[in-house]
Amino acid sequence: MTKKLRSHAWFGGLDKDGFIHRSWMKNQGHPDEMFDGRPVIGICNTASDLTPCNTHFRGLVEHVKRGVYEAGGFPVEFPVFSCGESNLRPTAMLFRNLASMDVEEAIRANPIDGVVLLAGCDKTTPALLMGAASCDLPTILLSGGPMLNGHHRGRTIGSGTDVWKLSEDVRGGVISLADFLDAESAMSRSPGHCMTMGTASTMATMAESLGVTLTDNAAYPAVDARRVRLAHLTGRRAVQMVVDDLRLSKVLTPAAFANAIRVNGAVGGSTNAVVHLLAIAGRIGVDLTLEDWDRLGQDVPCLLDLMPSGRFLMEDFCYAGGVPALMTRIADLLDLDALTVTGRTLGENIQGAQVFDEEVIRPRDRPLAAQGGMAVLRGNLAPGGAIIKPSAASPALMQHRGRAVVFQDIDDYKARVDDPDLDIDASCIMVLKNCGPKGYPGMAEVGNMALPAKLLQQGVRDMVRISDARMSGTAYGTVVLHTAPEAAAGGPLALVRDGDMIELDVAGRRLHLEVDPAELELRRAAWTPPEPAMGSGYQKLYVDHVLQADRGADLDFLVGCRGAAVPRESH
Ligand code: FES
Repeated sequence: MTKKLRSHAWFGGLDKDGFIHRSWMKNQGHPDEMFDGRPVIGICNTASDLTPCNTHFRGLVEHVKRGVYEAGGFPVEFPVFSCGESNLRPTAMLFRNLASMDVEEAIRANPIDGVVLLAGCDKTTPALLMGAASCDLPTILLSGGPMLNGHHRGRTIGSGTDVWKLSEDVRGGVISLADFLDAESAMSRSPGHCMTMGTASTMATMAESLGVTLTDNAAYPAVDARRVRLAHLTGRRAVQMVVDDLRLSKVLTPAAFANAIRVNGAVGGSTNAVVHLLAIAGRIGVDLTLEDWDRLGQDVPCLLDLMPSGRFLMEDFCYAGGVPALMTRIADLLDLDALTVTGRTLGENIQGAQVFDEEVIRPRDRPLAAQGGMAVLRGNLAPGGAIIKPSAASPALMQHRGRAVVFQDIDDYKARVDDPDLDIDASCIMVLKNCGPKGYPGMAEVGNMALPAKLLQQGVRDMVRISDARMSGTAYGTVVLHTAPEAAAGGPLALVRDGDMIELDVAGRRLHLEVDPAELELRRAAWTPPEPAMGSGYQKLYVDHVLQADRGADLDFLVGCRGAAVPRESH
């Protein structure tokens, strides 16, 4: 390399500062050549015992390093805050923005020329992309890959999706508690992230369709040797990206986001992709809106028959050809000229990809659902918008008018949902308040409220549910989510009372509270915001600055790209 890289500001000097930067790094045994001006590749690792979906990154990272060394680079691994979905309380989403700050500041403050992001569990992918986008160095992402299919008592079971089903079955008296508990280890039986088309698989698919990963990144199982090979090739590619100055902003263009939204429709991806892509776009400076999700996804059929919308799992998707094969089925809807981190266009990347199983990746004339995208609802109940995933909803409930049964917050819901005296039937609409970004805080995945036990016992399996929360990407049902503004910010959702009539019209994109405006004004005058759970610390920073769901729930002061200019010397 003749061009002076960013890392030269640390390692290139022959003065005391250069001595300090090199000398301390040499205590790891690095030879002198590592400081000769070669690309320094920062490997951002989210491995943690508390993020079980990402623990195997400790091994995978060694293969990334091999690739970096082989291409003449200097790999430096660094840890960042790891947002594990299954353990973090009150919700991993509260910490996505914190993790993104960690990533951004770690990249900018260190002698790094290019970045490899190791992400797997739900929030780790958007957090890493958000942080890296605010720096805009040459950046490539490697997903950790999904777990192998779950198997339990002769049946294939999927992460999350079957937890909700089994949990409803045990509450409805269909299966025993012993059967329920026995499924735990059968569901999660290998390293990797959730193997349904939940948020982790969705975000890995989004990353591949955005063009920020190597081809085939999303579907190889975590334990597949091809995942390890991909790690090696990702490291190798990162070095060349620095040489070519292929920055994230050259890849994360409006065309890339449009491609991702369309692929999301074709795979029946998680509703969480909406907030995450809005937030990533906000960091890189692409003007993406909630309406873009509806407009771009509307004519995209859902072709992938994966849980929670369909039958199969990510391992099956891999064997059927993965994301490249799926993209060939909707090639006419994609911008094939979009540049990717491979240095080639999306069209070049997927050329020759084949579908090997038409039950898993359906043909266009036999879709799983005619409309795979998200429907964005507006109305006096959601002036800032709300979303629903039609492919996961019950067709019979897509146009529905019902009596509101209101829960003030998640504690109120948990305390009363199974009360035999709760005045509710299958035609009612369950309304949950104060679970949005400020209210929970962190916009928890509680929007897919489990139905009251007495209705489950009657055989009811779906009802219209409305909240300002999110839902797990592995969940399903006629669930209206991300209602904005949220109740805790004084949105109209805060004003709904038991017995109000609500109209949901998905085809008409309408969510309407049938209450007289004058009455709503009276209710507003009597409304007081809920007390925040914490009055100081990170939660206060979050609640004070978090944007609503239609802006990606990022922190207001984090929106935008601040670049990676070399900061002033430390000594
Ligand atoms: Fe980590 Fe589902 S809990 S991906």
